[in-house]
Amino acid sequence: DIPLFTLNDGTKIPSVGMGCFMGEIGGGQRVYQMCMNALKCGYRHFDTAFGYGNEEWVGRAIRESGIPREEVYLTTKLPNHHHHKVRESFEESLAALNCGYIDLYLMHWPQAVAEHDVDWPNFRLTGKAVAPNEHPTFIDTYKEMEKLLEAGKVKSIGVSNFSIKTLNELLPHCKFVPATNQVELHPCLPQHELKTFCESKGILLTAYSPLGRPMTDGTPPIFFRHETILSVAEKKNATPAQVVVSWGVQRGTVVVPKSENVERMKQNITLVKLLDEDMDAINNLHKQPGMHRSLLAYHNIDPGNMMGWTYADMGW
Ligand code: A2P
Repeated sequence: DIPLFTLNDGTKIPSVGMGCFMGEIGGGQRVYQMCMNALKCGYRHFDTAFGYGNEEWVGRAIRESGIPREEVYLTTKLPNHHHHKVRESFEESLAALNCGYIDLYLMHWPQAVAEHDVDWPNFRLTGKAVAPNEHPTFIDTYKEMEKLLEAGKVKSIGVSNFSIKTLNELLPHCKFVPATNQVELHPCLPQHELKTFCESKGILLTAYSPLGRPMTDGTPPIFFRHETILSVAEKKNATPAQVVVSWGVQRGTVVVPKSENVERMKQNITLVKLLDEDMDAINNLHKQPGMHRSLLAYHNIDPGNMMGWTYADMGW
């Protein structure tokens, strides 16, 4: 059974969830099949977003699985170009998911983008970043999310892709401290400082891309082949992915690895107990040469560039 973590609002979240971003926007039937298989394998936590373009399919799988709604934990996210209409966007996600309620609603990025057109299926965004002090700031946006919480529309709210800097700006204005901050996190990018900071504020970290991403040639992430991970895996009779997911959960972060492959999705919810010395070794892996900080950066994928803004513009 997957351990549950308790959020600062008292609700519980399964420590392993299925990440529903398919590497491209949409995914339709593929997402439906992935979620159906995941539910059969024991997944009870699904992490999607308006921006993934597949809420409808995630919701359909949950509904059609026959598993009682209250046994499933469901997260979705407010897109950058909807910061000026939080309530409306939330209602849109709620309707698309069509699962009665949403457990956790996250601000996807701390950056509003002026309403834009989306060029399907290329998902080219033509919007312009809202300047740091221009309405809506992420503080304005979060306040609107707090209203959803107060109105009982959603069980928990939180943020995503926030740094210590942006959290420090947000927190003094919060009536309700974000339940979680979801960020890219894996052995190459362990986020030790952000984790310590979030813990001191009662914010649980959630790891996206907890396995890193496969390299552009399709080979698995660099740390999968690292001797440290391989030797722990051998000792535990586990796969590198199991070691990495277990490291994430054992250090107290929620992980949301995506997999469409039934064998791999089973691996990812089968945790192994790691020794303290192995935890330490993985905690320090990123310091070694060749262990790139962020696989996104390694691949020169800066999600910001798609919209004409960068991490730097966002104050990272
Ligand atoms: P696949 O769906 O074919 O299993 P993300 O960074 O969005 O969480 O994606 C994780 C990536 O790692 C996906 O490309 C996924 O591909 C792959 N993956 C998921 N689980 C495993 C695993 N246990 N072993 C190796 N690769 C995995």
